[in-house]
Amino acid sequence: MLPQEFIARKRDNLPLAADDIARFIAGLVDGSVSPAQAAAFAMAVYFNDMSVDERVALTLAMRDSGKVLDWSDLPGPVADKHSTGGVGDNVSLMLAPILAACGVYVPMISGRGLGHTGGTLDKFDSIPGYTTNPDNALFRRTVEAAGCAIIGQTDDLAPADRTLYAIRDVTATVESIPLITASILSKKLAAGLQALILDVKTGSGAFMSTLEKSRALAESLVSVANGAGLKTGALITDMNEPLASAAGNALEVRNAVDFLTGTHQDERLKEVTLALCAAIVEITGLGTAGEARAKVEQALASGAAAERFAIMVGALGGPTDFIERMNDYLPAAPHVRDITAEADGIVSGIDTRGVGMGVVALGGGRTRPTDSIDHAVGYDRIIGIGVKVERGDTLARVHFRSQDDFVEAQRRFRQAYAIGESAPRHPLIPARIM
Ligand code: URA
Repeated sequence: MLPQEFIARKRDNLPLAADDIARFIAGLVDGSVSPAQAAAFAMAVYFNDMSVDERVALTLAMRDSGKVLDWSDLPGPVADKHSTGGVGDNVSLMLAPILAACGVYVPMISGRGLGHTGGTLDKFDSIPGYTTNPDNALFRRTVEAAGCAIIGQTDDLAPADRTLYAIRDVTATVESIPLITASILSKKLAAGLQALILDVKTGSGAFMSTLEKSRALAESLVSVANGAGLKTGALITDMNEPLASAAGNALEVRNAVDFLTGTHQDERLKEVTLALCAAIVEITGLGTAGEARAKVEQALASGAAAERFAIMVGALGGPTDFIERMNDYLPAAPHVRDITAEADGIVSGIDTRGVGMGVVALGGGRTRPTDSIDHAVGYDRIIGIGVKVERGDTLARVHFRSQDDFVEAQRRFRQAYAIGESAPRHPLIPARIM
């Protein structure tokens, strides 16, 4: 079938066969399918959707466009988490070592932040010496030694996704659930996982802001992943406020290390992290629901997870005493100042996207993939929805470089906070799809 005949079938809402999908995706990588044809296909999918079978076929075709990692020599299950991205979302930094301490191997391939959400790799870039692009041998050695390694995407995994995503990005076709599903899962399948947990965010700081849309994405991801042979579950989690009390790269690393060592643990962050970890322990068969929760709590409380984090950082080129001397290593902004409440009341709502854009405005995030970022800046001691404040009380602290930056960061932060008479209740984990 010619590419134009294939596109016409989707345009006319006729079913696509798995081998035709595979040929089209292979053509996208070898150049026999043009970017214009890929764009037309993406737009036809945007309007006419795909069945679960078509989504599975697209996902597998994109996985097979590059290398698929093989971890069969490891003596335990291999699993990972994927988050749809949030603000103050440093869960990966804790989840990977907690799972490693439970006997799960976590070769985590993460991304950089774009827009209002932070990226896990940007957080690790604030640790001096830590490499997020090790060669394959070092990646494997780290996973074997620490049980986890958090690194960046390599060019040889799911290259069709990179090509198609770049086309979608400039043709208004990113917001398509079947295309998002295939994009996310092709990369996870190429990483050679046996189990996956999805953290699908919902609320004012999420990619999908309503519960209905988040659920549709989560259900698509879970059914397609399982259909492609990857045991997968999803939690839908609240992003109507930053998850950690810190937002900004080095600040979130500090928050994560404090969490692992038990120095400071944000409550909502702890609940989401442990729930995701327990779900993986359950999916991989290392424990029943009850046992899984006890196992992950023990991995954290015993210090075993902190130890795994330290081994991972050292193995990937960071300081071997990073946990003990984190303040000597992490970059710090020259100024820190409180942002205070302008009225008495209760924090009744947070425009979480606005808080994330405040970090970007400080220089801590990027709006174009090529932007460089300042790892030291951001907010910490962020208070959440439902907290009672009086005029002059601290809403957060801002870490900044210039007075102009402070004024702008304060303006954005105050604008993002609604102070009223009462606060809505947003369930922290409104749905589980397992
Ligand atoms: N994240 C991805 O990896 N792909 C998408 O299409 C959207 C979000």
